[in-house]
Amino acid sequence: MSLLEIDDVTVKFGERRSAWIERLGLARESVTAVADASLNIEAGEAVGIVGESGSGKTTLMRAVLGLAPLHSGEIRFRGTPLTQQRSIETRRAIQMVFQDPGTTLNPSRRVGESIEELLKVHRLAGSATERKKRVAELFDRVRLPATAQRAYPRELSGGQKQRVAIARSLALEPSILIADEATSALDVIVQASVLDLFAELRADTGITLIFITHDLTLVRYLCERAVVMRSGRVVETNTVAELFDSPRERYTQELIAAVPQLPATSEVHTSW
Ligand SMILES: Nc1ncnc2c1ncn2[C@@H]1O[C@H](COP(=O)(O)OP(=O)(O)O)[C@@H](O)[C@H]1O
Ligand SMILES: [Mg+2]
Repeated sequence: MSLLEIDDVTVKFGERRSAWIERLGLARESVTAVADASLNIEAGEAVGIVGESGSGKTTLMRAVLGLAPLHSGEIRFRGTPLTQQRSIETRRAIQMVFQDPGTTLNPSRRVGESIEELLKVHRLAGSATERKKRVAELFDRVRLPATAQRAYPRELSGGQKQRVAIARSLALEPSILIADEATSALDVIVQASVLDLFAELRADTGITLIFITHDLTLVRYLCERAVVMRSGRVVETNTVAELFDSPRERYTQELIAAVPQLPATSEVHTSW
Protein backbone atom coordinates (compact mmCIF):
# COMPACT_ATOMS: atom_id res chain seq x y z
CA MET A 1 0.00 0.00 0.00
CA SER A 2 1.36 3.40 -0.98
CA LEU A 3 0.70 6.55 1.02
CA LEU A 4 -1.37 8.02 -1.82
CA GLU A 5 -2.92 5.92 -4.56
CA ILE A 6 -4.56 7.50 -7.58
CA ASP A 7 -6.41 4.89 -9.63
CA ASP A 8 -7.79 5.60 -13.10
CA VAL A 9 -9.02 9.03 -12.16
CA THR A 10 -11.10 11.03 -14.62
CA VAL A 11 -12.26 14.59 -13.93
CA LYS A 12 -14.63 16.40 -16.27
CA PHE A 13 -15.84 19.97 -16.17
CA GLY A 14 -19.17 21.24 -17.42
CA GLU A 15 -20.93 17.89 -17.12
CA ARG A 16 -23.73 18.90 -14.82
CA ARG A 17 -25.90 21.57 -16.35
CA SER A 18 -29.39 22.73 -15.65
CA ALA A 19 -32.35 22.26 -17.96
CA TRP A 20 -32.43 26.06 -18.33
CA ILE A 21 -28.91 26.18 -19.67
CA GLU A 22 -29.77 23.41 -22.13
CA ARG A 23 -32.95 25.16 -23.25
CA LEU A 24 -31.17 28.46 -23.77
CA GLY A 25 -28.62 26.67 -25.91
CA LEU A 26 -25.79 27.72 -23.61
CA ALA A 27 -24.55 24.19 -22.96
CA ARG A 28 -21.03 23.63 -24.13
CA GLU A 29 -19.10 20.42 -24.56
CA SER A 30 -17.76 19.08 -21.29
CA VAL A 31 -13.99 19.26 -20.85
CA THR A 32 -12.08 16.17 -19.73
CA ALA A 33 -9.35 17.79 -17.64
CA VAL A 34 -7.93 14.50 -16.35
CA ALA A 35 -8.38 11.17 -18.14
CA ASP A 36 -7.70 7.77 -16.51
CA ALA A 37 -4.73 9.05 -14.53
CA SER A 38 -3.01 6.59 -12.19
CA LEU A 39 -0.15 7.30 -9.83
CA ASN A 40 1.16 5.89 -6.54
CA ILE A 41 3.13 8.00 -4.14
CA GLU A 42 5.23 6.47 -1.36
CA ALA A 43 5.78 8.07 2.02
CA GLY A 44 8.79 10.38 2.04
CA GLU A 45 9.09 10.56 -1.73
CA ALA A 46 9.42 13.70 -3.80
CA VAL A 47 7.49 13.31 -7.03
CA GLY A 48 7.40 15.85 -9.81
CA ILE A 49 4.34 16.32 -11.99
CA VAL A 50 5.34 17.94 -15.26
CA GLY A 51 3.58 18.87 -18.45
CA GLU A 52 2.68 21.94 -20.41
CA SER A 53 -0.01 24.36 -19.31
CA GLY A 54 -3.50 22.84 -19.48
CA SER A 55 -2.29 19.24 -19.19
CA GLY A 56 -4.36 18.59 -16.05
CA LYS A 57 -1.70 18.82 -13.32
CA THR A 58 -3.60 21.22 -11.08
CA THR A 59 -6.94 19.49 -11.62
CA LEU A 60 -5.50 16.11 -10.62
CA MET A 61 -4.19 17.57 -7.37
CA ARG A 62 -7.43 19.46 -6.74
CA ALA A 63 -9.14 16.08 -7.03
CA VAL A 64 -6.74 14.75 -4.38
CA LEU A 65 -7.76 17.65 -2.11
CA GLY A 66 -11.45 16.99 -2.76
CA LEU A 67 -11.85 20.26 -4.66
CA ALA A 68 -12.68 18.65 -8.01
CA PRO A 69 -15.26 15.84 -8.12
CA LEU A 70 -14.22 12.54 -9.71
CA HIS A 71 -16.11 11.41 -12.79
CA SER A 72 -14.64 7.95 -12.25
CA GLY A 73 -11.73 6.28 -10.48
CA GLU A 74 -10.60 6.31 -6.88
CA ILE A 75 -8.07 8.10 -4.71
CA ARG A 76 -6.88 6.41 -1.51
CA PHE A 77 -4.88 7.91 1.33
CA ARG A 78 -3.25 5.34 3.63
CA GLY A 79 -5.46 2.74 1.98
CA THR A 80 -8.75 4.54 2.66
CA PRO A 81 -10.76 5.91 -0.25
CA LEU A 82 -11.03 9.70 -0.17
CA THR A 83 -14.51 11.01 -0.77
CA GLN A 84 -15.70 14.60 -1.08
CA GLN A 85 -16.78 14.40 2.56
CA ARG A 86 -13.65 13.94 4.60
CA SER A 87 -12.58 14.30 8.18
CA ILE A 88 -10.70 17.37 9.32
CA GLU A 89 -7.67 15.13 10.03
CA THR A 90 -7.65 13.86 6.45
CA ARG A 91 -8.00 17.38 5.10
CA ARG A 92 -5.12 18.54 7.26
CA ALA A 93 -2.94 15.64 6.09
CA ILE A 94 -2.68 16.93 2.52
CA GLN A 95 -1.78 20.58 2.04
CA MET A 96 -1.16 22.58 -1.11
CA VAL A 97 0.81 25.75 -1.77
CA PHE A 98 0.06 27.71 -4.90
CA GLN A 99 1.84 29.93 -7.38
CA ASP A 100 0.35 33.07 -5.88
CA PRO A 101 0.70 32.93 -2.08
CA GLY A 102 -1.27 36.18 -1.84
CA THR A 103 -4.51 34.27 -2.35
CA THR A 104 -4.13 32.24 0.85
CA LEU A 105 -2.87 35.02 3.12
CA ASN A 106 -5.32 37.36 4.82
CA PRO A 107 -4.27 40.89 3.74
CA SER A 108 -5.58 42.54 6.91
CA ARG A 109 -3.79 40.33 9.43
CA ARG A 110 -0.17 40.21 10.46
CA VAL A 111 1.18 36.96 9.02
CA GLY A 112 2.24 35.58 12.43
CA GLU A 113 -1.23 36.22 13.89
CA SER A 114 -2.87 34.49 10.92
CA ILE A 115 -0.94 31.32 11.66
CA GLU A 116 -1.66 31.59 15.42
CA GLU A 117 -5.33 31.84 14.55
CA LEU A 118 -5.11 28.78 12.33
CA LEU A 119 -3.47 26.79 15.16
CA LYS A 120 -6.25 27.92 17.48
CA VAL A 121 -9.04 26.94 15.08
CA HIS A 122 -7.48 23.52 14.59
CA ARG A 123 -6.65 23.19 18.30
CA LEU A 124 -3.07 22.32 17.42
CA ALA A 125 -1.29 24.12 20.23
CA GLY A 126 -2.74 24.34 23.72
CA SER A 127 -2.33 27.85 25.09
CA ALA A 128 -1.68 31.26 23.52
CA THR A 129 1.93 30.97 24.70
CA GLU A 130 2.31 27.58 23.05
CA ARG A 131 0.82 28.92 19.83
CA LYS A 132 3.34 31.78 19.79
CA LYS A 133 6.14 29.32 20.38
CA ARG A 134 4.93 27.12 17.54
CA VAL A 135 4.68 30.09 15.15
CA ALA A 136 8.23 31.07 16.07
CA GLU A 137 9.36 27.51 15.26
CA LEU A 138 7.53 27.58 11.94
CA PHE A 139 9.10 30.89 10.91
CA ASP A 140 12.48 29.49 11.83
CA ARG A 141 11.68 26.32 9.87
CA VAL A 142 11.04 28.32 6.67
CA ARG A 143 14.07 30.52 7.35
CA LEU A 144 12.20 33.75 7.99
CA PRO A 145 13.41 36.13 10.69
CA ALA A 146 11.17 36.40 13.78
CA THR A 147 10.44 40.04 12.88
CA ALA A 148 8.60 38.88 9.74
CA GLN A 149 5.78 37.58 11.98
CA ARG A 150 4.61 41.15 12.53
CA ALA A 151 4.46 42.02 8.83
CA TYR A 152 1.31 42.28 6.75
CA PRO A 153 1.41 40.25 3.52
CA ARG A 154 1.80 43.43 1.40
CA GLU A 155 4.99 44.28 3.27
CA LEU A 156 6.69 41.04 2.22
CA SER A 157 8.46 40.15 -1.02
CA GLY A 158 7.17 37.34 -3.24
CA GLY A 159 9.71 34.90 -1.86
CA GLN A 160 8.94 35.84 1.75
CA LYS A 161 5.20 35.49 1.13
CA GLN A 162 5.75 32.04 -0.32
CA ARG A 163 7.73 31.09 2.79
CA VAL A 164 4.82 32.27 4.96
CA ALA A 165 2.42 30.21 2.83
CA ILE A 166 4.66 27.17 3.35
CA ALA A 167 4.81 27.83 7.11
CA ARG A 168 1.01 28.08 7.14
CA SER A 169 0.71 24.69 5.42
CA LEU A 170 3.27 23.13 7.75
CA ALA A 171 1.34 24.45 10.77
CA LEU A 172 -1.30 21.81 10.01
CA GLU A 173 1.33 19.07 10.22
CA PRO A 174 0.55 17.49 6.85
CA SER A 175 2.05 14.22 5.62
CA ILE A 176 1.87 15.41 2.03
CA LEU A 177 2.79 18.85 0.78
CA ILE A 178 1.75 19.68 -2.77
CA ALA A 179 3.52 22.63 -4.35
CA ASP A 180 1.70 23.84 -7.48
CA GLU A 181 4.05 26.02 -9.53
CA ALA A 182 5.00 27.40 -6.13
CA THR A 183 8.23 28.96 -7.36
CA SER A 184 7.14 29.88 -10.89
CA ALA A 185 6.33 33.52 -10.16
CA LEU A 186 9.63 34.15 -8.38
CA ASP A 187 12.77 35.42 -10.00
CA VAL A 188 15.45 32.83 -10.55
CA ILE A 189 17.58 33.54 -7.46
CA VAL A 190 14.63 33.59 -5.06
CA GLN A 191 13.29 30.51 -6.81
CA ALA A 192 16.55 28.69 -6.08
CA SER A 193 16.38 29.59 -2.40
CA VAL A 194 12.75 28.41 -2.07
CA LEU A 195 13.70 25.17 -3.85
CA ASP A 196 16.46 24.73 -1.30
CA LEU A 197 13.86 25.17 1.42
CA PHE A 198 11.72 22.36 -0.03
CA ALA A 199 14.80 20.12 -0.20
CA GLU A 200 15.63 20.99 3.41
CA LEU A 201 12.07 20.29 4.60
CA ARG A 202 12.19 16.87 3.05
CA ALA A 203 15.55 16.05 4.58
CA ASP A 204 14.56 17.31 8.03
CA THR A 205 10.92 16.27 8.33
CA GLY A 206 10.54 13.37 5.87
CA ILE A 207 7.47 15.06 4.43
CA THR A 208 6.15 13.66 1.15
CA LEU A 209 6.40 16.22 -1.61
CA ILE A 210 4.44 16.52 -4.83
CA PHE A 211 6.00 19.21 -6.92
CA ILE A 212 3.99 20.44 -9.88
CA THR A 213 5.83 22.44 -12.47
CA HIS A 214 6.12 23.06 -16.18
CA ASP A 215 9.87 23.42 -15.60
CA LEU A 216 11.77 20.13 -15.82
CA THR A 217 14.98 21.60 -14.40
CA LEU A 218 13.28 22.04 -11.01
CA VAL A 219 12.16 18.42 -10.96
CA ARG A 220 15.69 17.29 -11.70
CA TYR A 221 16.94 19.24 -8.74
CA LEU A 222 14.29 18.22 -6.22
CA CYS A 223 12.60 14.93 -7.11
CA GLU A 224 13.51 11.26 -7.48
CA ARG A 225 10.55 10.42 -9.62
CA ALA A 226 8.41 12.27 -12.11
CA VAL A 227 5.12 11.91 -13.87
CA VAL A 228 4.63 13.48 -17.27
CA MET A 229 1.10 14.61 -18.13
CA ARG A 230 -0.29 15.58 -21.49
CA SER A 231 -3.90 16.43 -22.36
CA GLY A 232 -5.12 15.08 -19.04
CA ARG A 233 -3.28 11.76 -19.33
CA VAL A 234 -0.25 10.43 -17.52
CA VAL A 235 2.03 9.62 -20.44
CA GLU A 236 5.11 8.56 -18.52
CA THR A 237 6.08 7.74 -14.92
CA ASN A 238 9.78 7.34 -14.43
CA THR A 239 12.72 7.99 -12.15
CA VAL A 240 14.16 11.43 -12.78
CA ALA A 241 17.50 9.87 -13.78
CA GLU A 242 15.81 7.70 -16.43
CA LEU A 243 13.54 10.49 -17.53
CA PHE A 244 16.49 12.66 -18.48
CA ASP A 245 18.85 9.93 -19.68
CA SER A 246 16.45 7.69 -21.57
CA PRO A 247 12.94 9.12 -21.74
CA ARG A 248 10.47 6.49 -22.91
CA GLU A 249 7.97 8.78 -24.59
CA ARG A 250 8.51 11.05 -27.52
CA TYR A 251 6.60 13.80 -25.74
CA THR A 252 8.99 13.60 -22.76
CA GLN A 253 11.93 13.87 -25.18
CA GLU A 254 10.39 17.02 -26.62
CA LEU A 255 9.87 18.51 -23.16
CA ILE A 256 13.49 17.81 -22.25
CA ALA A 257 14.74 19.26 -25.52
CA ALA A 258 12.80 22.44 -24.75
CA VAL A 259 14.57 22.97 -21.38
CA PRO A 260 16.83 26.01 -21.57
CA GLN A 261 20.38 25.36 -20.40
CA LEU A 262 20.65 27.07 -17.02
CA PRO A 263 23.45 26.79 -14.49
CA ALA A 264 22.84 24.06 -11.88
CA THR A 265 20.83 25.40 -8.94
CA SER A 266 23.73 24.76 -6.57
CA GLU A 267 25.85 27.22 -8.55
CA VAL A 268 23.37 30.02 -7.99
CA HIS A 269 24.14 32.09 -4.97
CA THR A 270 21.11 31.85 -2.70
CA SER A 271 19.59 34.69 -0.77
CA TRP A 272 16.18 36.17 -0.36
N1 LIG B 1 -12.90 25.00 -13.28
C1 LIG B 1 -12.74 24.63 -14.55
N2 LIG B 1 -13.77 24.68 -15.44
C2 LIG B 1 -13.61 24.28 -16.71
N3 LIG B 1 -12.46 23.82 -17.24
C3 LIG B 1 -11.39 23.77 -16.42
C4 LIG B 1 -11.47 24.16 -15.04
N4 LIG B 1 -10.23 23.98 -14.46
C5 LIG B 1 -9.45 23.50 -15.45
N5 LIG B 1 -10.11 23.37 -16.61
C6 LIG B 1 -9.58 22.84 -17.88
O1 LIG B 1 -8.98 21.59 -17.60
C7 LIG B 1 -7.77 21.42 -18.33
C8 LIG B 1 -6.62 21.15 -17.37
O2 LIG B 1 -6.35 22.34 -16.62
P1 LIG B 1 -5.32 22.39 -15.43
O3 LIG B 1 -5.56 21.23 -14.54
O4 LIG B 1 -5.40 23.73 -14.82
O5 LIG B 1 -3.94 22.20 -16.19
P2 LIG B 1 -2.45 22.55 -15.71
O6 LIG B 1 -2.45 22.71 -14.23
O7 LIG B 1 -1.63 21.39 -16.18
O8 LIG B 1 -2.07 23.80 -16.42
C9 LIG B 1 -7.61 22.67 -19.16
O9 LIG B 1 -8.15 22.41 -20.43
C10 LIG B 1 -8.44 23.69 -18.44
O10 LIG B 1 -8.92 24.67 -19.31
MG1 LIG C 1 -1.82 24.35 -13.11
